[in-house]
Amino acid sequence: MADVRLGIVGLGGMGAQHARALVDGAIAGATLVAVCDSDPSRLEAFPLVARFASCDDLLASGQVDALVVATPHYDHVPLGVAALEAGVHVLVEKPLAVHVADGQQLLDAHDRRPDLVLGFMANQRTDPRYRFLKQLLDQGELGAVHRISWTITDWFRPDAYYASSSWRATWAGEGGGVLINQCPHQLDLLCWLFGTPSRVRGFCQLGKWHDLEVEDACTAYLEFPGGATGVFVTTTGEAPGVNRLEVATDRGRVVVEEDVRWTRTTPSVTEQLRTAPGAFDLPALEELTYSFEGWGGQHHEVLANFVAAVAHGGALIGPGVEGLAAVECANAILMSSLWDRTLDLPLDRQAVAEEFRHLAASGRPAPTSQQTGILDLSDSFGHH
Ligand SMILES: NC(=O)c1ccc[n+]([C@@H]2O[C@H](COP(=O)([O-])OP(=O)(O)OC[C@H]3O[C@@H](n4cnc5c(N)ncnc54)[C@H](O)[C@@H]3O)[C@@H](O)[C@H]2O)c1
Repeated sequence: MADVRLGIVGLGGMGAQHARALVDGAIAGATLVAVCDSDPSRLEAFPLVARFASCDDLLASGQVDALVVATPHYDHVPLGVAALEAGVHVLVEKPLAVHVADGQQLLDAHDRRPDLVLGFMANQRTDPRYRFLKQLLDQGELGAVHRISWTITDWFRPDAYYASSSWRATWAGEGGGVLINQCPHQLDLLCWLFGTPSRVRGFCQLGKWHDLEVEDACTAYLEFPGGATGVFVTTTGEAPGVNRLEVATDRGRVVVEEDVRWTRTTPSVTEQLRTAPGAFDLPALEELTYSFEGWGGQHHEVLANFVAAVAHGGALIGPGVEGLAAVECANAILMSSLWDRTLDLPLDRQAVAEEFRHLAASGRPAPTSQQTGILDLSDSFGHH
């Protein structure tokens, strides 16, 4: 079978990395045939493929079967919609969109072309630790989830990071800060593992650690439909940060850090609560530690999985339709903080969109693509 003909739009740090993986033959069954960037200098590194300054021209060329969208966030939806309308499969970088109403437009475009594949870059779903936890949850090994606590503060970013590209950390250019750029990964995992929260109270600090207009520190209280409660804490200003997911379940506590550690109770917590004879009797505890090599296939695995789905069908690691949950969580935490009240989900999408328009209009102006610098992302991968 012929290779899937791939195009990439946006050749900054992330898009160029995807392009190099394809050129180096790291993704079986796919050939990079076209690239697009509104900054012509970004095209120079790929002299052997068709090069376009406009995504419309790339799509009109008919040269690609599928498109990877790796531009700044506000362009994910219009470029994704244009590709689907041109009959081209789409893999969109995270986040799916800046806000839920916007993301819904991409899903609606996909509903009109269900024969096409729409995926998003859910690279953290390939981490064997989270896959293992999901398996435990899905198989019922842990019983009901009671409490979730995720402290993800190792997204440290000094000022130099924000200075690298002027679209970053602006309402108009990026649509937010840590919630929309760094944490879509963990918010996606949170929803993938535990379902979308039903109530959210967020507290976000805008420019707490940096001279920024957007949020760079957040604490959120979450409630889930099954009765679980959660706390989600993140920032780009803490060092050394931590990435610790703690889940209290009916069969004890699971902590995901470098290892997955399960302190298993016998009997279940609920049974112990009801039947323990003594006033302070704990259930019996057993320490189980599961160690994993590496962080999974990450971006390459998602790209290869997308290519396979385009070529032969099959399940996606990150189906587009699942990409909206992390966007809704991020929006809920931010809006709850800005509006100073607890929010029920699903959100009022129009009100959220209106707030984003207001933020963009009142904040720093949107940059042009020529103002962007390129980041070497190779140091930032690892476990994110
Ligand atoms: N999955 C991950 O681990 C990961 C890591 C980093 C970045 N990302 C995501 O990748 C995307 C890009 O981030 P980046 O760090 O590479 O940004 P970047 O600023 O380095 O690159 C963006 C590129 O897009 C180009 N561009 C902007 N608008 C365009 C348009 N309309 N048409 C064509 N080209 C356009 C710019 O000229 C620039 O070259 C973002 O969504 C970001 O969140 C994902």
